[in-house]
Amino acid sequence: AHPVHVHHKNLDFNSLQELPESYTWTHLDDHTIINSNNIMKESNSSVPVIDLNDPNASKLIGHACKTWGVYQIVNHGIPISLLDDIQWVGQTLFSLPPHQKLKALRSPDGVSGYGLARISSFFPKLMWSEGFTIVGSPFEHFRQLWPQDYAKYCDIVLQYEETMKKLAGKLMWLMLDSLGITKEDIKWAGSKAQFEKACAAMQLNSYPSCPDPDRAMGLAPHTDSTFLTILSQNDISGLQVQREGIGWVTVPPLHGGLVVNVGDLFHILSNGLYPSVLHRVLVNRTRQRFSIAYLYGPPSNVEICPHTKLVGPTQPPLYRSVTWNEYLGTKAKHFNKALSYVRICA
Ligand code: SIN
Ligand code: FE2
Repeated sequence: AHPVHVHHKNLDFNSLQELPESYTWTHLDDHTIINSNNIMKESNSSVPVIDLNDPNASKLIGHACKTWGVYQIVNHGIPISLLDDIQWVGQTLFSLPPHQKLKALRSPDGVSGYGLARISSFFPKLMWSEGFTIVGSPFEHFRQLWPQDYAKYCDIVLQYEETMKKLAGKLMWLMLDSLGITKEDIKWAGSKAQFEKACAAMQLNSYPSCPDPDRAMGLAPHTDSTFLTILSQNDISGLQVQREGIGWVTVPPLHGGLVVNVGDLFHILSNGLYPSVLHRVLVNRTRQRFSIAYLYGPPSNVEICPHTKLVGPTQPPLYRSVTWNEYLGTKAKHFNKALSYVRICA
């Protein structure tokens, strides 16, 4: 593992006129990069966009999860003003002077705060991005960043968290419904409170403009450990997902749209029917990109395993049961190979 926290001096991206060696990735396989704007006509080559008001939403989501592991949603009921507000919090935060941001630096074994992508330790090169992780209330960190007016930033984050938790719960049921699983079939969520005890985190990301975007990496390829992740991106593209047989496909920004991707825990719950999607972020020469990821999973000590409705004599369970806590430990050790470590060998 690489000691990422010693690199925080480097987080002053604006001072860099050319790409330092430590940020130069040599393996960018450009020939496999497909910009889905160019291939819109082949509708099966772009990430599905689903209208949540469509009576068939659950079916469409199921198909998207099975084939892509990712989809975009529109008509999701989240006010554009809230999406704009949370973008504004991210933009304002990352525009603070470096020394100010460092006041909220994530401690080496802490979960929340400012810093480089946590996955940095798995790669020999640095990523052209900075992030800010929030778990629960952002108050402790925000009052360091904005001693006078932290309250308005906190309010927006809390409202965003509350709103996203409801949306994530709704998406979770739609995805389960598409697998034939009802509320009665989920034991740990059996009460009326259902997913209220679900756990979540928020990740604000900034991808500054980059003098040499073809050789830089905004965020290296990974899958999320979550049930699902809901992502809001500004109007700058950069997110790409891997599609078998095609390669890297750009997920074009949709104003007011949200990207939903299947995470490793849903992959396990669905017994591999809905694969978690490998994704990465590229950067832009002139424009700064911002995104907000809402990471959604089960209460950290609930055992998650392939659902009994999805296993049978012809479909043995492919994964043993794990808690989110335990899985995060496996992920921290084995990163993108973590799923294979909880796989049951035939
Ligand atoms: C992430 O994968 O956590 C962020 C993706 C993005 O910024 O688009
Ligand atoms: Fe991710």
